[in-house]
Amino acid sequence: MNNLKKLYGHFDDAAREYVITDPATPWPWINYLGCEDFFSLISNTAGGYCFCRDAKFRRILRYRYNGVPMDDGGRYFYIREADGSVWNPGWKPCKTPLDAYECRHGMGYTRISGERRGLRAEVLFFVPPGRRCEIHKLTLSNRGDAPRDFKLFSFVEWCLWNAATDMENFQRNLSTGEVEIEGGTLYHKTEYRERRNHYAFYGVNAPIDGFDTDREAFIGAYNGFDAPQNVLAGQATDSVAHGWSPVASHCISVHLEPGQSRTLVFVLGYVENDPEHKFAPDGSIDKTQAHALLEAFDSEEKVDAAFAALKQCWDDLLGRFQVESGCPELDRMVDIWNQYQCMVTFNMSRSASFFESGIGRGMGFRDSNQDLLGFVHQIPERARQRILDIAATQFPDGGCYHQYQPLTKRGNNGIGGGFGDDPLWLIFGTAAYIKETGDFGILDEPVPFDNVPGSEVSLLEHLRISFAHVQERRGPHGLPLIGRADWNDCLNLNCFSDNPDDSFQTTENKNGGSKAESLMIAGLFVYVGKEYAALLDRIGQDAAAVRQAVSDMECAIREHGWDGEWFLRAYDYYGGKVGSHENAEGQIFIESQGWCTMARVGAEQGLCDKALDSAKRLLDSEHGLVLNQPAYSRYYIEYGEISSYPEGYKENAGIFCHNNPWVIIGEALAGRADDAWAHYCKISPAFIQDQELHKVEPYVYCQMVAGKDAFRPGEGKNSWLTGTAAWNWHTVTEFLLGVRPEYDGLRIEPCLPADRFPEYRVHRRFRDAEYDLTIRNSGRGGSRFIPYAPGRHVLTVEL
Ligand code: GLC
Ligand code: GLC
Repeated sequence: MNNLKKLYGHFDDAAREYVITDPATPWPWINYLGCEDFFSLISNTAGGYCFCRDAKFRRILRYRYNGVPMDDGGRYFYIREADGSVWNPGWKPCKTPLDAYECRHGMGYTRISGERRGLRAEVLFFVPPGRRCEIHKLTLSNRGDAPRDFKLFSFVEWCLWNAATDMENFQRNLSTGEVEIEGGTLYHKTEYRERRNHYAFYGVNAPIDGFDTDREAFIGAYNGFDAPQNVLAGQATDSVAHGWSPVASHCISVHLEPGQSRTLVFVLGYVENDPEHKFAPDGSIDKTQAHALLEAFDSEEKVDAAFAALKQCWDDLLGRFQVESGCPELDRMVDIWNQYQCMVTFNMSRSASFFESGIGRGMGFRDSNQDLLGFVHQIPERARQRILDIAATQFPDGGCYHQYQPLTKRGNNGIGGGFGDDPLWLIFGTAAYIKETGDFGILDEPVPFDNVPGSEVSLLEHLRISFAHVQERRGPHGLPLIGRADWNDCLNLNCFSDNPDDSFQTTENKNGGSKAESLMIAGLFVYVGKEYAALLDRIGQDAAAVRQAVSDMECAIREHGWDGEWFLRAYDYYGGKVGSHENAEGQIFIESQGWCTMARVGAEQGLCDKALDSAKRLLDSEHGLVLNQPAYSRYYIEYGEISSYPEGYKENAGIFCHNNPWVIIGEALAGRADDAWAHYCKISPAFIQDQELHKVEPYVYCQMVAGKDAFRPGEGKNSWLTGTAAWNWHTVTEFLLGVRPEYDGLRIEPCLPADRFPEYRVHRRFRDAEYDLTIRNSGRGGSRFIPYAPGRHVLTVEL
């Protein structure tokens, strides 16, 4: 059956690439370039855009929202043949049929090649480490037996920097565009005359035969990217943009003998100048830095060296954790794609994808703390800074801004705070960081409140007030108050909105006297509280009060949070149950089953096993565990946004790949290896069979897969930028493969079916030590602690 399904591509594990062989993927399948401050999105047809540091305020290439198709606009190369035909190596935008097409998305680079009638064009796209530019290395080869003459046109369209006003403020925008042209380098300098000290440019390491910088002149007033009039005519018009829409297009005549190849290097760069020295004596932009950047990549050799450095950088990052399990799907997720996606979520947070506009929310307080789980082993120094940045957005009472802006690192006033779970994630993230690094010193770092200088207290004090904040805000059952929402942004129990213009997340029409409590936060409190107590023990501080609070919470959960077969989800504003068999809809939810079983609440009384059984019986489906059941079939004003979604989508009974891992960890801690593995396989992209149905990239996790009540169960959405990446990484490495950092070493505690995984090998770098572990998995459970010691350790662990 499965081999009848259409495939658009396959994994090439040795090259660490995903190879797309049909350009008409069901949705643009993208990759990310860049790992410091210059970032790009690139689809399998070279669509997408780039920005420096901030996707909203420093957008370099323009992107049209709700474009048709979705990934229209990008870095396009047009080949205009002598017979007048025009094609692109990436198929789009002309969509001229190609004799061969391939897109290889690799670690920080994308290679797209197309071939037509013996002429092959291959473009390697990447951002060199430490540089603010995209390299487009284009190789043209004549594989036929006759000479070939053709014109090559490049094309990019500039964004007027602020991606939001770029698509709104036309009365201004259409008059501000300015460019400069210097030989073959086309500069974009809109607003440089005033407060901007930055510009962009697009250059090539060869003489050009013409250029265009005005979009209408290049494309024509009534054409699209698929039929630019100058390309069709085979002639650039050397247009100079004055207002309207600045673009950059080079025109180069190429002659290739049979068997001959020619390589051109295009550099799409971004430069920030010192405000005091931004102009050259003649009033034009100071181009010193652009010249240096162009020179750095003016030959194939220089480009190849930079590309090798990029490869090396990824080898180092990924090499910190490698597994040989005998299961290729598991290995490719762990060794390559899951780690890669974690780094991308570190870089991008939730800013820019084809599901996140890059002009919306900043960095989430809870999201960023959870993302840490995924990259702390790769870039511990940057994880450290991230924790300090996040903590600095906290308020003196332990509450915190729900989001902060990456450029300013300041809390986002527009959304504010009041999300009941947020503070606990800081403890969670910090504990994960210290376990990985052994850097207890971070706890002494002075960190301000709300970024106000002079308000600094130690990070440890931030953790203390985080815990206290949640402990002090409890409702009638002694369970944590939910506030605007907990992890589930859409469970808005204090919102009561009947106005479609309200934001569900910021409207609190009834916050006074609310009885809305969250079992998800209660489970999180117990789990994190135990971690926090262990941390206090380890640094020689008294943890008795924390342990007492944890134990009180466990009692409250057992007493008021157990529904008979599973954990309740919440109490609503009036104190009514949410997630109970007594409810007509929404009788069971995943989050509280996940967190309460992770925290092992009531394990001795059998509650965890029962809750996990119920989750499997009521929430599981072919494509994973859905969030709740039965789905809400109408809007419930007292539950908020969750019931705004049609059944089976998003938080209303969609499969949130983010919280499936909580149940998997719960299963692992209960020693139920078969169930844990079965749940993992359903959501892990490497196991996806039906690419057409799944629709989004089969090499990375998506936030949500349509649930069993949806119109098209199994259809994925919101790929790439999701806490799913970090949670699956954490789950598979620490709980399934069972290699878990602790404060003083590694704990080995596998939970994989023994018949399928009798023995596997893990290479793990841990602090400045290397562990080569052979793990023999009898399936009987048990665990082994390996104290940390520097150096290289080759060990066999039998369990
Ligand atoms: C999104 C948000 C995250 C939230 C989740 C569930 O992934 O980024 O903060 O927890 O949805 O609502
Ligand atoms: C919407 C989404 C949810 C996301 C939230 C972020 O509510 O459904 O997943 O977390 O927006 O603000």
